[in-house]
Amino acid sequence: MRKIVVCSDISELYETAAEFLIDHSLAAVTSGGRSVMALPGGNTPRGLFHLLARAPYQSLLPWTQVHFFWGDERYVPKDSPQSNYRLAHEAFFVPLAIPGENIHRIRVEYGSPEQAAADYQQRIREFFQLDAGEFPRFDLILLGMGADGHTASLFPGGSELNVHQDLVTWSQPKSSAVPRITLTLDTINQARHIAFLLSGEEKAATLRRVLDGDENLPAALVKPENGTLTYFVDKAAGRFQPEFQSWNTFLTRPGK
Ligand code: 6PG
Repeated sequence: MRKIVVCSDISELYETAAEFLIDHSLAAVTSGGRSVMALPGGNTPRGLFHLLARAPYQSLLPWTQVHFFWGDERYVPKDSPQSNYRLAHEAFFVPLAIPGENIHRIRVEYGSPEQAAADYQQRIREFFQLDAGEFPRFDLILLGMGADGHTASLFPGGSELNVHQDLVTWSQPKSSAVPRITLTLDTINQARHIAFLLSGEEKAATLRRVLDGDENLPAALVKPENGTLTYFVDKAAGRFQPEFQSWNTFLTRPGK
């Protein structure tokens, strides 16, 4: 099942995505005692993280039962301005006092991105108690997308797209000298709920190609095997899409 939610602006995108995250996390906590999600990187999620750390959202989830992984990370120190971990740490782990044992950072202190990927993969296997050959099933994976159609750190034409036996791999973007560590497509596509957060005019044409199924674009290869796929877009990114008239939510949106 695929859903495109066109929001009037980025504020409404953040509100709608926050409700989505809380709805599904509450369901996971209720059914399984915990919610396990993978966070995106880049700039778009910053506003969502700040929103979740404020009323009313901050009190809508038992945060001690929520575990945080990442879809990808840059191979930079964790206190680097480029670090996806640092963004989440400052924007909402600290304000919400998320317990350290719930934060499963991609450790970049290793001597190579390969070693960092292998460490992250091993820790995912241990956390989900996987047998050999098994893949984890995240309750929720949030993703961004670049204007070139990359998602997580899976880039167009990259060899990382052909990694199938591993949960995690590493990649080298053409646009940067900084290597990346990333969940593989096979891992991402096992998730219960996958949501893209897309904002800005520069993504509209790429989104249309993704929705038309252009498999040259890694974002078009995100197809949950047994889960839901939702695109939260603002009007600028969704200008080629029909308005999605309403958003079913179990939460009364503040002020609505
Ligand atoms: C990263 C991300 C990457 C990001 C897109 C969109 O580490 O950069 O995981 O996939 O989501 O590049 O980035 P913006 O949100 O900054 O447009």
